[in-house]
Amino acid sequence: MKNISKKMIRRKKIAGLLESNEFGSEVTIMGWVKTKRDTKGGFSFLEINDGSTIKNIQVLAENKMANYTEEILRLTTGCSVIVKGVLVESPGKGQKVEVKATEINIGGWADPDSYPLQKKRHSFEYLRTIAHLRARTNTFGAVARIRNAMSYAIHTFFQDRDFIYLHSPIITGSNCEGAGDMFKVTTLDLQRVKNKGGAVDFTEDFFGKSASLTVSGQLEAEVYALALGNVYTFGPTFRAENSNTYRHLAEFWMVEPEMAFCDLKESIDLGEELIKSTLAYILKNCKDDMDFFNRFVDKDLISTIDNIINKHFERLTYTEAIGILSKSRERFEFPPTWGKDIQSEHERYLCEHFKKPVAVTDYPKEIKPFYMKVNKDSRTVKAMDILLPGIGEIIGGSQREDVYETLLNRIKEMDLDPADYWWYLDLRKYGTVIHSGFGLGFERLMQFVTGLANIRDVIPFPRTPKNLEF
Ligand code: 4AD
Ligand code: MG
Repeated sequence: MKNISKKMIRRKKIAGLLESNEFGSEVTIMGWVKTKRDTKGGFSFLEINDGSTIKNIQVLAENKMANYTEEILRLTTGCSVIVKGVLVESPGKGQKVEVKATEINIGGWADPDSYPLQKKRHSFEYLRTIAHLRARTNTFGAVARIRNAMSYAIHTFFQDRDFIYLHSPIITGSNCEGAGDMFKVTTLDLQRVKNKGGAVDFTEDFFGKSASLTVSGQLEAEVYALALGNVYTFGPTFRAENSNTYRHLAEFWMVEPEMAFCDLKESIDLGEELIKSTLAYILKNCKDDMDFFNRFVDKDLISTIDNIINKHFERLTYTEAIGILSKSRERFEFPPTWGKDIQSEHERYLCEHFKKPVAVTDYPKEIKPFYMKVNKDSRTVKAMDILLPGIGEIIGGSQREDVYETLLNRIKEMDLDPADYWWYLDLRKYGTVIHSGFGLGFERLMQFVTGLANIRDVIPFPRTPKNLEF
């Protein structure tokens, strides 16, 4: 690579150039060859992509260039190039501008006999085996740009409403969801772990007690909500559940707002607003990428999203939902039963039944974690799940138990040790308030907005059981 630093200064991004009218100006672009076509007339057309947009820019290279025969004719898909040239109006169809090259430097070759990304379409399964290269495909470039825009939209949504962004810890000593499914964090030599009567002696471990990767930042978000009012976390969370499905990851990103002086109803309203507002942002700001998904993944994608932005989400209780499911003629694998969890087949049915997103509230307390506020009926808790058509549960949340005694009883009832939750209980002892919050699965929102069926394809490096290659 010769003289790159000087050229870097005038580097233009293709996204900007495609919109430019500055014909005659000198430009430098840097990117990867998508395709090349050599003509009999002694020139070549290169399609170059630099990741700034799904679109390529066409570069015209003539045989009078010094390295035409030796290098340019040898360029193939995947090679990196630094092109210096002049921006001209394109005579070709389908593009406004192109670059007439004056100099093309090759960054790196990509041997066409072994380069895994050929011009043809590859299956998503195959692309998962080359996660280090799939970012160069149209689909995964678009996913990465939309993930970026979606993150921005989420932060903007909360910042516009004066929420404080809270960095909740990744390593934790408590279990928010009160169940198993946590990854252990340890520096113990696993070959020589000391046992104390059968149990591992964690006093010897780094933290002097058992530590795990967090399943949710909620408990810590509650601490800050009860001081700052409205906060949100947006970070990675970890679940060791061994579920190989199209919508579960072992490492996923969660958005968790937590609001003091806020009840269940208000938190559902916020969840609905968050989904609508971020979807609208993507439709407005990621047009080219969304057109691509609408064309190649789901022909109804944009109209489905539009529809959801404009519809009021249905709200119903768990008991009503079980009633609807029981009355349906659908043959469910898991018969809907009061007291049992709502399965993904049930979620799908409910969204189809109402033809819109659905918020289900007030679940039996037995199937929900210890922290949810117990209703007056003492059988149900102030829980809520928001379900999206095609995705199922996207949001899970609740109003939190704010009464000290009730919370203590729930912790005991669920066989948890109150000593582990002393600081969480303290929040109810000192200045307790009604408060609520929820967690939105970022990748599930990404699945919805891109139409991609498998959650492994909306995160750069998916973590799932038996899969840690990249
Ligand atoms: O319903 P969940 O388990 O709720 C909580 O963790 C609460 N503590 C959140 C809160 O109230 N602050 O998870 C919330 C959301 C789910 O609705 C789902 O969208 C997503 O996180 N989620 C997953 N996404 C991908 N892979 C997994 N294994 C997921 N588990 C949950
Ligand atoms: Mg849930």
